Amino acid sequence: MSESKPASAQNDLERYQYQSGFCNDFATEALPGALPAGQNSPQKVAYGLYAEQLSGTAFTAPRAHNRRSWLYRIRPGAMHHAFQPLAHGVQGLFRSAPFNEVAASPNQLRWDPLPLLASAQATDFVDGLTTIAGNGDAAGQVGIGIHLYVANRSMQDRFFYDADGELLIVPQQGRLLAHTEFGVLAVKPGEILIIPRGVRFRMVLPDGEARGYICENYGAQFELPELGPIGSNGLANARDFLAPIAAFEDREGDFELVAKFGGQLWSAAIGHSPLDVVAWHGNYTPYKYDLSHFNTINTVSFDHPDPSIFTVLTSPSGLAGTANVDFVIFPPRWMVAENTFRPPWFHRNIMSEYMGLIHGAYDAKAEGFAPGGGSLHNCMTGHGPDAATFEKASAATLAPHRIDNTLAFMFESRYVIHPTRFALDTPLLQKDYLTCWHGLKKNFTGQP
Ligand SMILES: [Fe+2]
Repeated sequence: MSESKPASAQNDLERYQYQSGFCNDFATEALPGALPAGQNSPQKVAYGLYAEQLSGTAFTAPRAHNRRSWLYRIRPGAMHHAFQPLAHGVQGLFRSAPFNEVAASPNQLRWDPLPLLASAQATDFVDGLTTIAGNGDAAGQVGIGIHLYVANRSMQDRFFYDADGELLIVPQQGRLLAHTEFGVLAVKPGEILIIPRGVRFRMVLPDGEARGYICENYGAQFELPELGPIGSNGLANARDFLAPIAAFEDREGDFELVAKFGGQLWSAAIGHSPLDVVAWHGNYTPYKYDLSHFNTINTVSFDHPDPSIFTVLTSPSGLAGTANVDFVIFPPRWMVAENTFRPPWFHRNIMSEYMGLIHGAYDAKAEGFAPGGGSLHNCMTGHGPDAATFEKASAATLAPHRIDNTLAFMFESRYVIHPTRFALDTPLLQKDYLTCWHGLKKNFTGQP
């Protein structure tokens, strides 16, 4: 089951198979009989494998939230050399909570996309991480980091895991082939990939280059939002989440294991591929989800619901209904509301909102918000449609209208989101962003 494949096979990503369901109690084996029957850690595991439990929640977490998997592997995860601090890669722009490089301001912020890399600048997924913003405390398991990645080199002999948080990866350009301890996940723009805290992986770039967004979630793991009166169906349905089937690498060599731990990157030599799990069972697993499967729910009368109606995944905080972070999308959909201003309304929010755009145009902005770019509207900062969008929407004929060719998303957090120094110093920051509202006319006449 070595994963070294000819280039032609690397482009055939549809051949990978998955198990369906949201963090079900999966069971999968790459060799017949590798999974022990009826117990987790027999005295001797078939094929001479070692049994190892990976716990994503406290042992004593309630059953509804408890996540753990049993891995049957060639060597235990403890086998590697000592970790040493790692100076971060090519760009040196990776940051972690606590975020205190610069003060967070109440200004509306928007950025152009990071440029793709020149081919001479070989950069893998880990070295290509640039941190835009974040909040909370990685060691305290609260908050998020918001990163962009731009990469043009596959990881072959280098492996990574993040002990500080789970990774919600949102590809914007280029496919990703995530070789993980649990198997292989092929992901393209329009899909998302979640790699739980601690899971080791290497990222292969089938298209040669890739760009996208990452929410590093230090808090409680993402889960599906409750549906309340919506009922038992709708939004993201559990069966559309896909987990890998077991696949393993039996490779030895001079490899590197990179860890993110305690807000720092660390590097250890390792003499074998840590992706050597031959079989596993449990509900702690990486998974992917095609955002086009999201069952968008909206008004069929007047006004429109809060954007929380578009929540795909939520990481709850200790305060009921108030997320550490929500992942929310704005996908293609029909707008049918009567007597209603249809774009997202003017808004100030206790929650802080980072937005990105996967493709197309966002319906609240006439221009300036480009695919790969981002915006940040922090706690109680006013935002909403720009002047051109307001004028157009106020005069529009309210026939049913399909918003198409668009896919925007939001990381929305209860904690103020602090930009990094890079985010405020980079020329990608649009200095004139807030002028998009300056053209809003005074329409008030004193008359009804
Ligand atoms: Fe908002």
